Amino acid sequence: MEHKDIRTDIIKVDRASPEPTVIELAAELLRRGEIVAFPTETVYGLGADAFQIIALERIFAAKGRPFSDPLIIHIADVSELELLTTSIPMEAKQLAQKFWPGPLTLILPKSPRVSHLATAGLETVAVRMPRHPVALALIKALRSPIAAPSANRFMHISPTTSQHVYADLAGKVPVILDSGPSEIGVESTVLDLSSDEPKILRPGGISLEALRALLPDVKPPLQREHAEITDEDLAKKAPGQLIIHYAPKAPLLLFDGTNEEMHTSMLAEVERRHAKGELVGILIAEEDIPVFQDRQVSIYSVGREDDLMLVAAHLFAGLRSLEEAGVQVILCRNFGKQGLGLAIRDRLLKAAGGTIRR
Ligand code: TXA
Ligand code: MG
Repeated sequence: MEHKDIRTDIIKVDRASPEPTVIELAAELLRRGEIVAFPTETVYGLGADAFQIIALERIFAAKGRPFSDPLIIHIADVSELELLTTSIPMEAKQLAQKFWPGPLTLILPKSPRVSHLATAGLETVAVRMPRHPVALALIKALRSPIAAPSANRFMHISPTTSQHVYADLAGKVPVILDSGPSEIGVESTVLDLSSDEPKILRPGGISLEALRALLPDVKPPLQREHAEITDEDLAKKAPGQLIIHYAPKAPLLLFDGTNEEMHTSMLAEVERRHAKGELVGILIAEEDIPVFQDRQVSIYSVGREDDLMLVAAHLFAGLRSLEEAGVQVILCRNFGKQGLGLAIRDRLLKAAGGTIRR
């Protein structure tokens, strides 16, 4: 089928008290089965009425996303959980009480009302109540849950501003609601509660430590990381093994070790790349700037090394900004595994195809 590009409008909406006329305009589009991009506290989402099949299909078409990748359904009130699931375990109620509205997605057994298109054929459904006032107002105005993945092209970095959405989806979505940069900057934590053993499928805005306070036995996410030392090793790795997702347009190399070790190996890599005539981008913390500032590299600093909230909030904008600078490789420091660090590491590892340099 031919898909003609449409006009895309960016409409500003006040974060704290969303203008009712703007919310109504967006809700009316959703009622008609259209898609709308809107802000959440994690990243921007690409929304559709969760109960309209045509609207769900439009999400996949706009993103270029395969039907095998299930969507998160966003609600504005816990009572809506009953529409979407067949049973709500005690843990789900406690977690909802503690972390909703907020960046936690729960995987629960799906009710027959939920289309298999939304769940990619699975018998479980992903549900989250966002805490962004615009997202909540939109769900309430629609009077129906909103299915929404991140509002990026498939395989690209999630958007944290309306400009990021526009860069990926202009011509594919009629309206992008704009309330400024996303507060958290990485996606929600996805927690599977559909079996006896609660497990984190994707680390995100709610930390492992915070979940453990309520669920002492929660399984941490599987992180498939493999140390990688030389370019030959990289070349030998079968492409099928690489875990590519959140992929920036330039390859990303993630460096581990102490600050001193990281600086040494990153500087050596800069030399190697310059010898090949490549443009190098560096994603680092404020404290690293003096090490790299006279090295003829594009630098993006995401904030102080120990301020993980700031780092998470600037991470995706940093990757996009280096891409736009036209660099041929991005060298990136790591930010540890504590708190939000785990989600940051997960996104960087995926962008690095699962390999880390030590
Ligand atoms: O913060 C977020 O979660 C953002 C905002 C817009 O809410 N949404 C988001 O959606 O990141 P998306 O589609 O980009 O990522 C959703 C993740 C995917 O990795 C998907 O595989 C997983 O949730 N997921 C959805 N339904 C699932 C299910 N039934 N079982 C297991 N994983 C599921
Ligand atoms: Mg996504």
